[in-house]
Amino acid sequence: MTPLSSESATILPDSAPQIFAIANQKGGVGKTTTAINLATALAAVGEKVLLIDLDPQGNASTSLGISRSERSPGSYEFLLGLSPLADCVRTSQIPDLAVIPAATSLAGAEIELIDMDRREHRLVDALGSGEVRARWTTILIDCPPSLGLVTLNALVAVDAVLVPLQAEFLALEGIGALGTTIDRISKRLNPKLHIAGVVLTMVDRRMTLSQQVEADVRAHYGDLVFGTTIPRNVRIAEAPSHGLPVLIYDNACAGSQAYILLASEFIRRRRIAAEQKAHHEPAS
Ligand SMILES: Nc1ncnc2c1ncn2[C@@H]1O[C@H](COP(=O)(O)OP(=O)(O)O)[C@@H](O)[C@H]1O
Ligand SMILES: [Mg+2]
Repeated sequence: MTPLSSESATILPDSAPQIFAIANQKGGVGKTTTAINLATALAAVGEKVLLIDLDPQGNASTSLGISRSERSPGSYEFLLGLSPLADCVRTSQIPDLAVIPAATSLAGAEIELIDMDRREHRLVDALGSGEVRARWTTILIDCPPSLGLVTLNALVAVDAVLVPLQAEFLALEGIGALGTTIDRISKRLNPKLHIAGVVLTMVDRRMTLSQQVEADVRAHYGDLVFGTTIPRNVRIAEAPSHGLPVLIYDNACAGSQAYILLASEFIRRRRIAAEQKAHHEPAS
């Protein structure tokens, strides 16, 4: 097994981005898989991680073994401010990984938010007290496959976005809309919002198409693309039905190794981003 990075979150500068949305309005591109395995790998190297499942399908909650009967109050109540944080958070089987699970009730939020005050700021308000940032070193938000109000709430609340892209034909199709949305939100509602990185998933290096897509994505996004790519790996697909992240289900498989490397790269990139920010914005 690749040794885990010993770099610890506790020595991250204050300026380090801390809350991340994992977003792509396309379904089936590896958002949830990336969310749970990055969360698990970060928890394994000593970070305190909170994963918020913002997809009414609740795949992240299922993949972490949280049964349907244990999901309320969860992200629906948290988002709408109906229940306090303490009631919405669950522990998981992974030490230092806490979860706010999603129940099917979350599907209603998309409509209910329309008529609410501060409809784009509900998650900001819920996360706002400072308690969340003080208690967890990394907060990952698994977004639904749409650019509706629930995803908008996530993009307004986070510091940065991770975009998983499936290495297949038309991978870049539709991503333009996400980029436009991020630009718009960063101008109007959340100036710090930026893309922290693009992660290529389900890569099959034996296929010319997969190589071509990877080359196109790197040409388009440049350094934003993580050097680490996630291979197509059957153990990754099997793990959710056991209610386990693949890192726990089979930590020696190629998929797990890739997510461990991704977590190391994530930590490294985050530190560099924080140092650059500190350099450009010296403390007054
Ligand atoms: N690298 C991979 N190799 C094989 N199967 C994968 C891989 N990543 C994700 N999957 C599977 O593909 C499906 C979609 O992935 P998921 O993470 O749920 O996507 P999203 O959250 O974007 O809809 C799931 O069944 C998942 O187990
Ligand atoms: Mg998902």
